Amino acid sequence: MSEFAELKINGQSYNLPLVTGTENEVGINIGKLRAETGAITVDPGYKNTGSTSSAITYLDGENGVLRYRGYSIEEVAEKADFLEVTYLLIYGELPTQEQYDNFVADIKKHTLIHEDVRKILEGFPSNAHPMGVLSSLVCSMTAFYPESLDPNRSSDEVDLSIVRILAKLPTMAAWAYKNEQGHPVNYPDNTLSYTENFLKMMFAVPAEDYKVDPVIAKALNKLLILHADHEQNCSASTVRIVGSSHASLYASISAGINALWGPLHGGANQAVIEMLENIRKDGGDVAKYMAKAKDKDDPFRLMGFGHRVYKNFDPRARIIKKAADDVLTALGVNDPVLEIAKGLEQIALEDEYFVARKLYPNVDFYSGIIYRALGIPTEMFTVMFAMGRLPGWIAQWKEMRENHEPIGRPRQIYTGYNERSFVAMGDR
Ligand code: SDX
Repeated sequence: MSEFAELKINGQSYNLPLVTGTENEVGINIGKLRAETGAITVDPGYKNTGSTSSAITYLDGENGVLRYRGYSIEEVAEKADFLEVTYLLIYGELPTQEQYDNFVADIKKHTLIHEDVRKILEGFPSNAHPMGVLSSLVCSMTAFYPESLDPNRSSDEVDLSIVRILAKLPTMAAWAYKNEQGHPVNYPDNTLSYTENFLKMMFAVPAEDYKVDPVIAKALNKLLILHADHEQNCSASTVRIVGSSHASLYASISAGINALWGPLHGGANQAVIEMLENIRKDGGDVAKYMAKAKDKDDPFRLMGFGHRVYKNFDPRARIIKKAADDVLTALGVNDPVLEIAKGLEQIALEDEYFVARKLYPNVDFYSGIIYRALGIPTEMFTVMFAMGRLPGWIAQWKEMRENHEPIGRPRQIYTGYNERSFVAMGDR
């Protein structure tokens, strides 16, 4: 393999160094392109542009491969605990039993949030979307832990910031839900596991003895693992670019939550269920909606389908689809939208428009069906995605800081007016 890519501009040749990853991906290093040629590259949406080098997650979109620090998503989803995967993503190795026990114990020390957070929470109207509440409460951590504003502190202090947000985000998420329901909040129960504690804070109500269903806890553990990281997706890239200005971990994560909220990204899981419900209410005519999805003049998109990287099955969608069947059977839930989803998938996988564009179900297509079966309300689906993705955001922020990456500041091609003289108001 040549070490350089040759570029010719106006008859002059330039050699641009090639970089090769551990899975033999090839990149062209354009670090000196503008200085040497005066030209820049242009790539809206960064469809062909690598923003960094990373050792956290590997994706092969053509072959539907996803690995966290080298371990396949299929293995970790089946065999690991969410906090085990969290430790792996953030610190690079699977924890020993002692490391795991210490990590869990540290997190349990910090699950409570300052009572003043309730004043912020109570300031939100009950119709506030929980993603907006969550990003605000996470950002408020910069006020309760002002020392976290300096990202250049010791690794022990950064680890404490990491443990605090891992511990408190589930509490904040559950409190955002309770605020929306107009219910009293539940305080953490550290006798329970991470997922069990979250479920209890979400669903326990006064005067009822709430017991966590192990089927639900196990399904939630798997869902959180499946969402834990996905290399340089929109929200992870947001966390990295905000952190590149030396903004704090909490400010960066809050920005990531807002990027994930969009319906083209993590907000798709809520949009999928709303779409399936609309199809069901409209008589379940999936062929009609497939035609709408293909109609360029129709803004309707088949939410939960397509992906920037996967041009084959999203491996997470495969796992979630099977888990959906298992969970609904175990819980004795018969959800009519599941059949509609399977009908849409069947048609799409045979339809020329979708086949030609390599549009397959993504992680969001079936996840909402499981969340619904677990009793999680639609407006909380993207919050669940955020809770799962938190370790990935932390790992990406930490790697960017440890690699001393420069502030992110892309260039542009200017297409506006050339210089012109100012015209006084009276002469316009
Ligand atoms: C996530 O990046 C990640 O890793 C994200 C994620 C993660 O874990 O972080 O995996 C999570 O965000 C999953 C994606 C969730 N979003 C959705 O399900 C929303 C619906 N899907 C799309 O809007 C779209 O597929 C994207 C946003 C996911 C990807 O968009 P791209 O890569 O910019 O592709 P595109 O919009 O240029 O589409 C290419 C073609 C277009 O048609 P043509 O102009 O070539 O004729 O495919 C069409 C699009 O119109 N198309 C769709 C479609 N998705 C793409 N047509 C109908 N329905 C769809 N869902």
